[in-house]
Amino acid sequence: MRLSRRQILLGAIAGTLVPRPALAKKPIQTLRPAPVAVQWPGHNREMPGLLGFNGSIPGPELRFRQGDQLDVRLENGLQDGALVHWHGVRAPNRMDGVSILTQEVVPPGAHYDYSFALPDAGTFWYHSHYLSYEQVGRGLFGPLIVEERDPPNVDHDITAMLADFRTTSDGMFDTDFGVMDDFSRKGRMGDLLRVFLSQKTVRQGDRVRLRLVNAAIDRVFRLDLDGIDGSVVALDGMPLESPTQLQHLIMAPAQRVDIIGFATSEITFNLTEGNTRNPIASIALSGKNPAPDRSPVTALPMHGLSEPGQITQTLELLMRGGEGDRNHGGFGTWAFNGVSGLPNKPFGQFRQGETARIVLLNPTGFAHGIHLHGHHFREISENGTFGPLRDTLLVASGETREIVCAFDNPGRWLFHCHMLSHSADGMATWIDVS
Ligand code: C2O
Ligand code: CU
Repeated sequence: MRLSRRQILLGAIAGTLVPRPALAKKPIQTLRPAPVAVQWPGHNREMPGLLGFNGSIPGPELRFRQGDQLDVRLENGLQDGALVHWHGVRAPNRMDGVSILTQEVVPPGAHYDYSFALPDAGTFWYHSHYLSYEQVGRGLFGPLIVEERDPPNVDHDITAMLADFRTTSDGMFDTDFGVMDDFSRKGRMGDLLRVFLSQKTVRQGDRVRLRLVNAAIDRVFRLDLDGIDGSVVALDGMPLESPTQLQHLIMAPAQRVDIIGFATSEITFNLTEGNTRNPIASIALSGKNPAPDRSPVTALPMHGLSEPGQITQTLELLMRGGEGDRNHGGFGTWAFNGVSGLPNKPFGQFRQGETARIVLLNPTGFAHGIHLHGHHFREISENGTFGPLRDTLLVASGETREIVCAFDNPGRWLFHCHMLSHSADGMATWIDVS
């Protein structure tokens, strides 16, 4: 077992002053990003250019109980810098894994210890936050599941991570991450669609919890699920006040959906584009549940987030750029409020506990998935009511959407498009909560 410097210091003090108690602490887990040799569909050979945490894509599923301490050592096995971001988690700012704002990039061969308590139960994920469009696009992502203290009764709890990879004409992984058209349009779309399932079979009649995570760098997944009679119980890790009937799903990059339902037949993930439905993965049946639990799906235990208070500021976030945007000087380069890349001054400054409204204006020709670090926000609908808590909101071309957020987590937080090609090409800003 490795000990952090803090533990060694504490141990030394304890050793000299008082008899050492048995350490109840869980050992530190390690995440090691490095080049990876994985089985690629249709190929038995190694696929150069892919990266994985601990030798796999996705990385290992990290599972905790609400309130647990996350203790993870990042050991950089790359030839490049590394950082890990815990997407959607209300972590302390210095643990957020963002270069410039919260920590130094971890150089090759070096390590960094992340350590914090997990305040909320839910479906989260971790991913590289250094050159993320490239490192996530090569495979550096994995699920982070925080179980409820009193989890709902299900027969299976299955994680489904969605991603896409681009291949070349000879079926290899496409390692060219510099294609101008990707940056200035809808991003790098992969032709190889994957649904990474933590489990491949269920019995007919089983009660199943499905945790969907869109880990693609740029692709919006439009999905219809067959074979499950279910309800959506959480979005972006946050429970819904009342579960809603499972329908067609539209998932922007980084968004999550939790579903609880019954397996009526093989569960199939269908990619839906216009009138075409394309099955991309399925969970097979392995028999029949002799005594299915048919009790209705109820809401998950509520989160402990502050509700919005009185709105004291309204800010506008104007998206610009992309192909065809003549009102934007740097053709093809993305910007928020006329600035491409992180500005020196924050986009917003909030007192801790302050509630503000942000108007998201998208006159560009493309959709954007706007993500705020360290917080969840609610959309304000046209009739003034508040929508469910989210950490990423898909804003379609031509749309204006409004969100409200209680800024209760102090620090400097990134606010960016989670279409990672757009973010890499300038669509990022930050806020300051103090
Ligand atoms: Cu998924 Cu800046 O994050
Ligand atoms: Cu975007």
